[in-house]
Amino acid sequence: MHPTVSELTLEEKATLLTGASFWSTSAVERAGVAAAVLTDGPHGVRLQRTSSDNLGIFDSEPATAFPTAATTGSTWDPELLEALGVALGKEARALGIDVLLGPGVNIKRSPLCGRNFEYFSEDPLLSGALGAAWVRGIQSQGVGASVKHFAANNQETDRMRVSADVDERTLREIYFPAFEHIVRSAAPATVMCSYNRINGVYASENYWLLTEVLRDEWGFDGYVMSDWGAVHAPVDAVAAGLDLTMPAAGDRHVRAVVDAVEAGTLPLEVVDLAVSRILSVHDRLRARQAEAAPRVDVDAHHELARRLASAGSVLLTNDGVLPLSPASGDAIALVGEFARTPRYQGAGSSHINPYRVDTALAAITEGTEREVRFAPGFRLDGSPDEALIEEALEAARDAGSVVVFLGLPDQDESEGFDREHLDLPGVQLELLDRLLGVRSDIVVVLSNGAVVDLSPIAGRVAAILETWLGGQASGSAVADMLFGRVEPGGRLAETIPLRLTDTPSFVNFPGGSERVLYGERIYVGYRWYDTTRRNVAFPFGFGLGYTTWSVDDVEVAVPDPSVAHATVAFTVTNTGERAGSQVVQVYVGDPVASVDRPIRELRAFTRLELGAGESRRVELALDDRAFAFWSAQGWTVEPGRFVIQVGTSSRDIAATREIDLEVPAPTPALQTDSTLAEWLGHPIGNPVLTGALEQAGATTLQFVEDDTVRRMMEQMPLRVIFGFGGATDGEAAVKDLLRAVEHASS
Ligand code: BGC
Repeated sequence: MHPTVSELTLEEKATLLTGASFWSTSAVERAGVAAAVLTDGPHGVRLQRTSSDNLGIFDSEPATAFPTAATTGSTWDPELLEALGVALGKEARALGIDVLLGPGVNIKRSPLCGRNFEYFSEDPLLSGALGAAWVRGIQSQGVGASVKHFAANNQETDRMRVSADVDERTLREIYFPAFEHIVRSAAPATVMCSYNRINGVYASENYWLLTEVLRDEWGFDGYVMSDWGAVHAPVDAVAAGLDLTMPAAGDRHVRAVVDAVEAGTLPLEVVDLAVSRILSVHDRLRARQAEAAPRVDVDAHHELARRLASAGSVLLTNDGVLPLSPASGDAIALVGEFARTPRYQGAGSSHINPYRVDTALAAITEGTEREVRFAPGFRLDGSPDEALIEEALEAARDAGSVVVFLGLPDQDESEGFDREHLDLPGVQLELLDRLLGVRSDIVVVLSNGAVVDLSPIAGRVAAILETWLGGQASGSAVADMLFGRVEPGGRLAETIPLRLTDTPSFVNFPGGSERVLYGERIYVGYRWYDTTRRNVAFPFGFGLGYTTWSVDDVEVAVPDPSVAHATVAFTVTNTGERAGSQVVQVYVGDPVASVDRPIRELRAFTRLELGAGESRRVELALDDRAFAFWSAQGWTVEPGRFVIQVGTSSRDIAATREIDLEVPAPTPALQTDSTLAEWLGHPIGNPVLTGALEQAGATTLQFVEDDTVRRMMEQMPLRVIFGFGGATDGEAAVKDLLRAVEHASS
């Protein structure tokens, strides 16, 4: 318990459990408890000094607008994410901020989610690895992180009420692991609970979520704050393990807590514990903050933003047109309003007031001796304009190169609402069609926070560069990549499907009547597309660069088959003529299991930078979680065969290896309702049952001789088999056997 807690009155304690304003926690000056400043997050510092809001309406202090998580997620580069965290930490410290509200590690369940740009990936391992690096970076500067939004907050539609109806296995395997990994490995100062309900219970009032899972199982020792306005029942929230209600909830909240303690319905120890957690976290941060605030080098941060933007841009196609020559050639036509007015960040609470914004138009003009022509081509508000198209056709017709900037304007994608389709605006597609009537060697540069339908583009143009929402330096990064000064380093952290109807949650997104059913269960992203063998436009993990690669000599070693642990070694070679980077991915499949499992799941990855012709041997470890699924018994690894695949996307597998694990078979407890197969498969149940049958004179299990009958009977509860004909009380007979099993096990 924090020592100050005993000095506080109940009223003061209750006051500390809610914010004092939009962005600060409460203080108790008498007892030396200072307020802490909390600020969005996650891609830059959004400190509001005058008017406050959580929708990105009012201005904030200038800060670096780093690329959004859609871009940084595609870097697959924890080191870069840690550097991003350090930079954010420095900016936050300089502005006197204690906790920065991020990272957002929710899983991209559907490409329609309006807030996907704030999240890293459709894959939990990747999200967790990147989120943990980000947290380590920011916290190294004495600023706390707030990992959000815990949990199952995967849509904006009705986000403040909707119940995510999702089974526990899916939560454990898909929606929890990023949070779990960050909590276990990076000790975040705070976690922010989500607005939504989970299986009917608000996250803010969910004891199982906030206390049993987060604290008791994962060992979280920071404090949980609510999302802004997520608390409905203050007393239930505190009882569930929610420490800080944000923003200021006022006297009503304080009174409710005080009254409940006085009435004996809320134990004082629970309040004390919550206060103690808040004070302890702030103390820890303050201890670091006693050191002088680091100097913020805004130019260096701009350069980091620029590096991140190209490291996270994904080159989807390139027939050889890229890189463009900056030195010689005819004019370059830049078509599309985004070249002049970049879309580089998303709308809502993450909206940053950037120090500066680079445009591709200026950066490309500066970076070449060639003539640069610009034509906006379309209006961002989507209204048609034939004159703009004519002007663009004119600019493109006899140019040496044509680069077309397409993407989603702000109004099409934002926090607070979801998209209804994956289409680019009609005016942009019309422009592209008309340009393709003039020439086909077009380079398309995309800026959008989540995937768009590329069928009107892919296969028709010479190259597609997906930059997502690349931050304030995205314009210079685009120039770097187009001219080949830098290679686009991104790999897809989300599958690009062929069409919306192929997406796993299509029939269940966004739900209705305040409920959304996670009917696709664990089959999210590539787990769905790969297991159901659906064609996709571009697979998870995919991305081109300016060099070529090979992955060879894949070896998988299992030091001790009775332990679920393996090492995967391989040699990566840059087979091209320039330096570059590659992301090698290790997937695991469990083809024979007692439950359905995705055909492959990402279990390890590495990002390498190699010079032309250079090779490197890499070894990655797979621990027991890499083979496990969640069952009623918890994390479960079954003995048998596992398939290990090493590749450069979920569909570009360089080598497949098989291993056999001889781990002890999990033994589900036998119950009154257990089937014959479960009895026969149970190490103690089998001899008990067979012995009892022999004693009763049934020397053989007659039905076993006929394969079809045996298979039918195996699926039946033993209780039913015994009870057939009515002569025996099936349930009583099974209970006798269960007692015998219990006796034999003790
Ligand atoms: C968002 C959070 C954000 C908070 C404060 C909420 O509406 O969901 O992500 O941190 O506002 O702005």
